[in-house]
Amino acid sequence: MTHPRADLALKALAEFWADMGLEEARAFAITRPGTPVRPGPPSSRPVERAPGSPRPEPRRLANNPIAEARKAAASARTLGELRTAIEQFSGCPLKAAAKNTVVCDGAFDAQVMIVGEAPGGEEDTQGLPFVGRAGKLLDKMLATIGLSRQSNVYITNLIYWRPPGNRDPSPAEMQVCAPFLSRQIELKAPKLLLTAGKFATQAMLGTEDGIMRLRGRKLRFTQEGLAAPIPCIPLLHPAYLLRRPEDKAKAWDDLRTIATLCDELKIERGPSL
Ligand code: URA
Repeated sequence: MTHPRADLALKALAEFWADMGLEEARAFAITRPGTPVRPGPPSSRPVERAPGSPRPEPRRLANNPIAEARKAAASARTLGELRTAIEQFSGCPLKAAAKNTVVCDGAFDAQVMIVGEAPGGEEDTQGLPFVGRAGKLLDKMLATIGLSRQSNVYITNLIYWRPPGNRDPSPAEMQVCAPFLSRQIELKAPKLLLTAGKFATQAMLGTEDGIMRLRGRKLRFTQEGLAAPIPCIPLLHPAYLLRRPEDKAKAWDDLRTIATLCDELKIERGPSL
């Protein structure tokens, strides 16, 4: 049943759809689970990574920074200590050109944890993840199902410093930051993990399958030391949805899967559609 205070969620949904036109927003707002989703028009815009574009070369890092990251991560006993450890860590070469270290945002006690890719320009300026255009869309997506970083979501990224020109993070950069992400997951012990986009999904789940194949599926994340695997649902990256608004139909489907799973896992949500 729709919550009596679903107006906020409805507003978020209408805004989420806004660049497809309000009629489309209304059409999807009344779509219920099980209703087939109308496919969007074909698009000639680029996919997440231009085919054939060169992957950046992994950089050589001095003094075994991965071992240093593991040690620093392991010695943090709380999320607050971990945040300080990441801010003090200088083993990732991206830090030299970054304005800020971008660790996390949201509620430390949230049961839903989102992992994105890397900070962009606005995130680098503000020192917070997902605060640019893509982040604003992410907030609207979450609000449609009663989730928000103000109350029940914790957000972080695979890496904590902006790659120059928003290029893809390199394998070496992801590896050096990985111990910090593992420790965040260990300390937070979320009930549900959401990965945003191809990079975060592939890195977290250790797969090379594409995001279109993985999105919206109820998968499981596991790592050494976890008592039990954590349910994990990959999402299309909001930056991708800004480029391909016609794929918001897929994202809306995935959000409803997430809402249902939250309820099954007894994760409290705010007003929702
Ligand atoms: N994209 C991401 O994956 N993370 C951010 O923090 C911002 C944009």
